[in-house]
Amino acid sequence: MELKLALVGFGGVNQGLVELLRKKRETLAGAGLDVLITMVADLRLGIATNPRGIALDVLDETARRGVDAMALRRDPGTLVSPDVNLDAVLKAIASEHVDVVIEATFTDPNTGEPALSHCRTALECGKHVITTNKGPIALAQQELARIATKSDACLMYEGTVMSGTPVLRQIATTLRGCDVNGFAGILNGTSNFVLGQVEAGANFDAAIREAQQRGYAEADPAADVNGSDVQLKVVILANTLWNAGLQRRDVHCRGIVGLTGEDVRVAAAEGMSWRLVGSAVRRPDGTVTASVEPRKLPASHPLRAASGVTNAIMFDTDVLGSVTISGPGAGRQETAFAILSDLIELVDRIAAAAPEVLE
Ligand code: HSE
Repeated sequence: MELKLALVGFGGVNQGLVELLRKKRETLAGAGLDVLITMVADLRLGIATNPRGIALDVLDETARRGVDAMALRRDPGTLVSPDVNLDAVLKAIASEHVDVVIEATFTDPNTGEPALSHCRTALECGKHVITTNKGPIALAQQELARIATKSDACLMYEGTVMSGTPVLRQIATTLRGCDVNGFAGILNGTSNFVLGQVEAGANFDAAIREAQQRGYAEADPAADVNGSDVQLKVVILANTLWNAGLQRRDVHCRGIVGLTGEDVRVAAAEGMSWRLVGSAVRRPDGTVTASVEPRKLPASHPLRAASGVTNAIMFDTDVLGSVTISGPGAGRQETAFAILSDLIELVDRIAAAAPEVLE
C-alpha cells in the first residue's frame, strides 16, 4: 500500500523520521507499506511539494544543512514556496497528494495552535493524522476524534507520551479486560535527566542546557521544568484510559523549579531521589483526580529505576496489580519511532477496513 505523507514541522522528530524511513525500508516493505513524502512544511523552509515524492536523500541533506531549502530547490519535480503562513499550510495539507499528515511542530500548551488547526483541517479533509504534538491531543482529543470518525480517518498519537516507548496502544490492546484504576509515572525525560545530573553535582542551568543539546527539551524548556509538559501527558493518559474529559486546569501542577541543588543532594545522602511524578486515580464513582509534583522516592520504589531520560509508568490494575512500563521518554529517533509504529498500525487498520487494497 502506498501512503503519501505530509510532514508538518521539520524539526528533530520529523528529521528523525526521515532517517528511520531510510533505515527501515525493508521492515516497511514487509509490513506492506510504501511511503512517499509529498509535502514538507516548516517555518525555516517554506512549503516543499512533489506529488511523486521528495527523495529521502534530499530531505536528509536538508536536515544536515540546518534546514536549508537549497537541496530541495535542486530536487527535480520539487517545488518550494517561501510562503508558509497558516492558510498556505492548510491548503497544502488538503491537497489530493496527501494521505497522512504527520504533525510534529512545537507544542503550545495553551492554545495547541497552529498544530490544532493542522490536525483539524487534515481530519476534515479525510486525511489520517499521526502526531507527537501534545497540544492538540491534550486540549481537543474528543473533538478531533469526532471529526476523524465522521471522515473515516484515523487519529494516532502514540508519541505524545513516553516518545517511542509503547504505552498508549498497550492501553487499547494488551491491557484491555483489566480495569485500570490509576497510574503514576515519570513522564518527562528532560526533568528526570536534569535531576540526575544535579544529583551527580551539576547545576540546574547547565543540566537544562545539556538536555536541550541532546534534543530532549521542549522548544521552551520552561514547560519541562515547571511541570506543564507532564500535565498535558497526564490529561492525554487519563482521557485515553477513561474518556475522562479531563482538562489541564483539573491537574494540580508543580514542577521541579522549586527544588534546589541542596534539596537534591540532601535527599541523595538519605538514600532518596527526587522525581517529577504525574499521576491520576479513578474513584469507584468515576471521578478522576490528577496531579504533577516532585516526590522523594526511596531506592525500593519501582519508578526509581528510571534514570536519565528514561521514563516509567505504573498502572494500577484490578487483575494484574501493578504493571510498569519503562523506556526512553524523549529524543528525536525515539519519538520518530512512535510515528513509524503508528504508520505500520495505520496500514493494518486501512487493510482491515478495506482488505482489497492489499490485493
Ligand atoms: N520535552 C519532553 C521530555 C519531550 O523531556 O520528556 C517528550 O515529550
